[in-house]
Amino acid sequence: MSTIEQARKTADALTYSSGFGNEHSSEAVAGALPHGRNSPQRAPLGLYAEQLSGAAFTEPRAHNRRSWLYRIRPSASHPPFVRIDNGAVRCAPFTDRAPDPNRLRWSPLPEPAPGTDFLDGLWTLGGNGDAAQRTGMAVHLYHANSSMTDRVFSDADGELLIVPERGGMLIRTEFGLLRAAPGQVALIPRGVRFRVELLDGCARGYVCENYGRPFQLPDLGPIGANGLANARDFLAPAAAYEEEEREVEVVNKFCGNLWSAVYDHSPLDVVAWHGNHVPYVYDLRRFNVLGSISYDHPDPSIFTVLTSPSDTPGLAGVDFVVFAPRWLVGEDTFRPPYFHRNVMSEYMGLIEGAYDAKAEGFVPGGGSLHNMMSAHGPDRETFERAGAAELEPQKIDDGLAFMFETRWPLTATGQAATADHLQAGYDDVWQGLQRHFRS
Ligand SMILES: [Fe+2]
Repeated sequence: MSTIEQARKTADALTYSSGFGNEHSSEAVAGALPHGRNSPQRAPLGLYAEQLSGAAFTEPRAHNRRSWLYRIRPSASHPPFVRIDNGAVRCAPFTDRAPDPNRLRWSPLPEPAPGTDFLDGLWTLGGNGDAAQRTGMAVHLYHANSSMTDRVFSDADGELLIVPERGGMLIRTEFGLLRAAPGQVALIPRGVRFRVELLDGCARGYVCENYGRPFQLPDLGPIGANGLANARDFLAPAAAYEEEEREVEVVNKFCGNLWSAVYDHSPLDVVAWHGNHVPYVYDLRRFNVLGSISYDHPDPSIFTVLTSPSDTPGLAGVDFVVFAPRWLVGEDTFRPPYFHRNVMSEYMGLIEGAYDAKAEGFVPGGGSLHNMMSAHGPDRETFERAGAAELEPQKIDDGLAFMFETRWPLTATGQAATADHLQAGYDDVWQGLQRHFRS
């Protein structure tokens, strides 16, 4: 059986527990999980107990995140970490170029060299804030054609929201295994070690690295108790462990740089765990899309899947927003997204199909950056078509787009600002909009 077939077979057999932010628990071996206490004098089955904190001990209960891991060896058993090459990974603060007020758009990343795994294939487009201050976010893309084998990755700088666009992935984490395919997203919490194996020979997509407060579900206000992303659709892994006594490299992103230490065993050796600081997957097609049933369409905040709050209520460090299949029924309404200038900054990507505000040029695997106060909206062709359209009920079902929307301007990295796949002439899509004014 090939490596890919083996990974697929493993992925097909996965089980999960559901819920968002709740206390999960899982044990791969019966009796591995202590009951009634977190750190007994001797943990069951000769395991080591280890707490992994995703929040300060003292943060309010509503924001507190931690998990207890029961593992074959403690994570502390390792030699010193040493700096390694950062590859195409960059980190906030992004100071190598001036923030650019222009609208920018990229085509997909080019084909990677043979043997490129998820970590090799990570390429930073830009971001904001300061990782060491735990503010802001980064936009990365990845393009891989090889599975990670003898190494795992962890990010001390933030959590990673992985948005696959092409190719399924089996993500082996300390907590167990996740399957993530295009149309789903996977979240790896800050500091959690993981390894990505490919299910289709190639994997391409987007990553939001969130330096700030962990993503949470948005409040629903008058919407009520249900709707948007429902908590029960978030799936956490079942405990699974590796016992191999072999050398495994742990690559740790710490304050912007990659560091490496070689363990003499697999660090994915957690036999049981419980807690609320957990990896998860979510199927974007489960998103309960809400919208207008009279006129106008609501602001796209109505499509928020996850939000990372900042210290100012209502002002997100980053929102993850999805434009999922939905009906448009508004009467006397310009139905595509309207022209606007936004105090927030928007990076948009496309998972499949087309986006209803862009007739061409915005393709799966590509992306656009509309920075703070930049003027944008439907392109010329879309505007003309929508203004003349017969307003029958219409199903938008041929695309899945998303947005990372952030309170701070996004600065493109030098490699993104000079990339061959940065599209020239993006401004042209808004040229030729006719004057229709009659006094
Ligand atoms: Fe916008």
